[in-house]
Amino acid sequence: MSTTARIRPLGAADAPAYKRLRDEALRCAPEAFVADYASARLQPALAYAQRFGPPLSGTFFLGAFDARHTLVGCLGCERAHPLQQRHSAQLVGMCVAPGAQRQGLGRSLLQHVLMVAARVPGLEQLTLTVTASNTHVVRLYESLGFVAWGLQPRALIVAGQAYDALHMNRPLHPRT
Ligand SMILES: CC(C)(COP(=O)(O)OP(=O)(O)OC[C@H]1O[C@@H](n2cnc3c(N)ncnc32)[C@H](O)[C@@H]1OP(=O)(O)O)[C@@H](O)C(=O)NCCC(=O)NCCS
Repeated sequence: MSTTARIRPLGAADAPAYKRLRDEALRCAPEAFVADYASARLQPALAYAQRFGPPLSGTFFLGAFDARHTLVGCLGCERAHPLQQRHSAQLVGMCVAPGAQRQGLGRSLLQHVLMVAARVPGLEQLTLTVTASNTHVVRLYESLGFVAWGLQPRALIVAGQAYDALHMNRPLHPRT
């Protein structure tokens, strides 16, 4: 991993930098996200601040910052609200700025989120959805213990092209 990157939870003050990073990711890799760039760029930055909860609530975002303190990567964890699903959280919004990719930041963000999520009281498992044709991303998740359990055909259509989505799951603790 990049030796100078620092990973910490995002707070409301990070919302403008988060929006810049997210909008760029949606523009550069539209097939990797449900949200589309044209709609997202119209959203005010502060609309995202509510996603940045205290980590031990199970709903939080971690950001990776470079040596100049610029946000260059992020990954979110959103705990389900319904009482009967409170044991699950979904990983969302994984992205690393194009200029900072392939330096280990994506893996490091994922490892940090796994560590934090494992300490959240009552949280038992993480889920995520990944575009199946992004095989390097699927492999990254598999290498950290996520297992695919279903394929949704034609989950997204981007610029006329259909993409299947792979659903994955990972327990946070060994089952007894
Ligand atoms: C997915 C993403 C976050 C990975 O971030 P990253 O910082 O580049 O990832 P890392 O450097 O930690 O690399 C993780 C692994 O993926 C591999 N990898 C990363 N990008 C790759 C690419 N374009 N092609 C092939 N392999 C790639 C790395 O070699 C590494 O494998 P290794 O650990 O076995 O050597 C980044 O590519 C990204 O933002 N993509 C666009 C958005 C996206 O697809 N998000 C996922 C939504 S589910």
